Amino acid sequence: MNAPMNFNPAPFAARRARLAEQIRAAGGGVAIIPTSPERPRNRDSDYPYRHDSYFHYLTGFTEPDAVLVLCASEAETKSILFCRAKHEEREIWDGFRFGPVAAGERIGADEAWPNEELAERLPSLLGDQPALWYALGHDTAWDARIMEALNTVRANARSGVSAPAEIRDVRVALDEMRLFKDSTEIATMRRAAEITAAAHRRAMQATRPGRFEYEIEAELLHEFRRNGSQYPAYTSIVAGGANACVLHYISNDQPLRAGELLLIDAGCELDSYAADISRTFPVNGRFEGAARDVYALVLSAQKAAIAACRIGNNFNTPHDTAVQILAQGMLDLKLLSGSLDEVIESNAFRRFYMHRTSHWLGMDVHDCGEYKRAGQWRNLEPGMVLTIEPGCYIRPAEDIPEAFWNIGIRIEDDVLITANGPDVLTSAAPKCIKDIEACMAGTAG
Ligand code: GLY
Ligand code: MN
Ligand code: MN
Repeated sequence: MNAPMNFNPAPFAARRARLAEQIRAAGGGVAIIPTSPERPRNRDSDYPYRHDSYFHYLTGFTEPDAVLVLCASEAETKSILFCRAKHEEREIWDGFRFGPVAAGERIGADEAWPNEELAERLPSLLGDQPALWYALGHDTAWDARIMEALNTVRANARSGVSAPAEIRDVRVALDEMRLFKDSTEIATMRRAAEITAAAHRRAMQATRPGRFEYEIEAELLHEFRRNGSQYPAYTSIVAGGANACVLHYISNDQPLRAGELLLIDAGCELDSYAADISRTFPVNGRFEGAARDVYALVLSAQKAAIAACRIGNNFNTPHDTAVQILAQGMLDLKLLSGSLDEVIESNAFRRFYMHRTSHWLGMDVHDCGEYKRAGQWRNLEPGMVLTIEPGCYIRPAEDIPEAFWNIGIRIEDDVLITANGPDVLTSAAPKCIKDIEACMAGTAG
């Protein structure tokens, strides 16, 4: 059995070097970053395995039962990998595993050991380190292992060894690094976005009255997987008619009807990076009546919010921009009454637009990274990737004309901030009315 191919360790090594630099600048120490455990689903079946994002960010290694120990002192930086040992029988049953020698070479570690040796080696790795950089509280089993190792070091105090005086959350440093995507990450995110856009086009072409939501979900998954995506980045939302007004609808088990809209929020994960696209379109392929009016409103808000994704603006500017346009549109459509300032000030618009416009996007669909600093929204800077996803959701109510009932619309793109303005990674998914209608009719150019 062969090892997986096409692996470039350089970006991962560069990230380890950057983290080590920060640890050294703070006085030196050791970082411990474990990957995720396998999780049982039922009896002897596990959930599909997904590595830990932080561990992957620093190693590119995808096997379970692995941990990175990064030592960063004035004298040296050392990456030590612990992972599963080679095991002839288990590899017959479960597949290839690298083993420490090949895994260490692959990721460019300075040392690599079978994870059976971790408990024995950990105390000496922690001894005389000024600080431990570790995500305390993330995984209780790991916390227990770390505490045991620290206590072993403390028990040896009379031999002159000291335990770290400080435990710092390594995620604070890593979150800030992950917020700014490097060129390798951007290339992967661009490809994840392209695959996801193709899946949305496929879904549009497969939609017609009488089909079930799960049939359209299957088209999305087919397109993700056939392009090499390992799994969806989150559970796909395929919501026809009234279901579109349930923001996190995932049952996906209802039939689609002419005269209703279909809202799809789905994105693939490719090589650890998420795409996140929402599109909304008519089941019968033609935008008509109130649905057309509300769609045009959400689209204009979304385009204006994307245009606001520029240096000089902050994370909240696209949201404010979208809210201004949506609230004015709700007044124009007579869904709300009063002045624009009043409906924004009172949050009356939130009856129909109750979520925010953006989140960071990266290895995790709701990616890490601070949104505010010292109480102020962060400025947008090159390398950040965020979603722009305004919507409008109108539930049946006596004070709302029936023509608007059950219209639920969200339009979501993924935007890379660049010095030259917004770079919409997901632009290959149609969103203008005529482009969607042409795609659904199979006449798109
Ligand atoms: N798909 C999750 C979100 O749009 O935030
Ligand atoms: Mn999103
Ligand atoms: Mn989404």
